[in-house]
Amino acid sequence: MKNSPILIIGKTAKTGMRVEQRLQALGHSTRGVSRSSTPAFNWEDSSTWRAALDGAQSAYVTFYPDLAIPTADDTIRDFTQLAKEVGLQHLVLLSGRGEEGAQRAEKILMNSGIDWNVVRASWFMQNFSEGFMIEGIVSGQLMLPAGDNVEPFVDVDDIADVAVAALTRPELRNRLFEVTGPRAMTFTECVAEISEVVGYPVEYKEIPIEDFLNALRDQGLPEGMLWLMRELFTVVFDGRNSNTTDGVMEALGRPATDFKEYLQKVNATGAWHRSGLLQQA
Ligand SMILES: NC(=O)c1ccc[n+]([C@@H]2O[C@H](COP(=O)([O-])OP(=O)(O)OC[C@H]3O[C@@H](n4cnc5c(N)ncnc54)[C@H](OP(=O)(O)O)[C@@H]3O)[C@@H](O)[C@H]2O)c1
Repeated sequence: MKNSPILIIGKTAKTGMRVEQRLQALGHSTRGVSRSSTPAFNWEDSSTWRAALDGAQSAYVTFYPDLAIPTADDTIRDFTQLAKEVGLQHLVLLSGRGEEGAQRAEKILMNSGIDWNVVRASWFMQNFSEGFMIEGIVSGQLMLPAGDNVEPFVDVDDIADVAVAALTRPELRNRLFEVTGPRAMTFTECVAEISEVVGYPVEYKEIPIEDFLNALRDQGLPEGMLWLMRELFTVVFDGRNSNTTDGVMEALGRPATDFKEYLQKVNATGAWHRSGLLQQA
């Protein structure tokens, strides 16, 4: 069993990629999958699941696009049932805070009869540097329908550390870790701190939700993703998740990474570098 691989669903995802790197560095055998792996794994095609699960000892599970979508709990139920049938012993699920659908999926896992962990995360800091907000940052204007709500953004390196601890330390099994960063911040505060490190001004502009969705529709985002964006910005981002938590400390015995430390890491990678514009400055 020791040599059987740990399955990572979402091998190219922000957390999945980091979880796989960490496990390999620790000498664990891994099997990272997504739609672009061989064999492919697709949440929308259950016939692809068995090949990924066969022979694995445990799995780190990131769902796509989000556990908030109405069909997610049925999909997680079917997946968990199959994982149990083929003999997996432990599932670690990445979940989101304040989402009813995510909490239904968490319960399915907890009641599955397999050892479980839930890593319930706040919004990722890396949305600013690896996700849908990077273009806004580099353009100097981040336009979102997010108001002045605060969010305790979490560093995905912390999420990966917590997931790896859950996968490799049996004493942590069957626990939920709710992970956030150490500071709840508005988008205005985030971009002010980003401006300081990148060396060009970035402003946050609040826009009406309908304008935001129309712009995404013009870019060709499918209706299901538009529904999700509305749900995230009008329901999940209504202030319900503004408190910070101790999940990183509980799992790892160290504090969560601050936004300033995240900024230094990203700036060193050049992800926000505006080559043409910076040369003109
Ligand atoms: N972003 C946040 O702030 C945040 C906060 C809390 C929780 N989460 C949760 O994190 C999870 C992943 O989000 P993320 O931001 O990490 O995503 P991401 O970095 O954009 O990565 C998405 C991953 O999903 C794969 N994928 C896309 N469609 C798929 C499908 N139909 N079947 C199987 N794999 C598919 C992609 O690889 P291929 O293209 O190769 O398939 C990729 O590996 C979601 O469940 C989300 O709810 C996100």
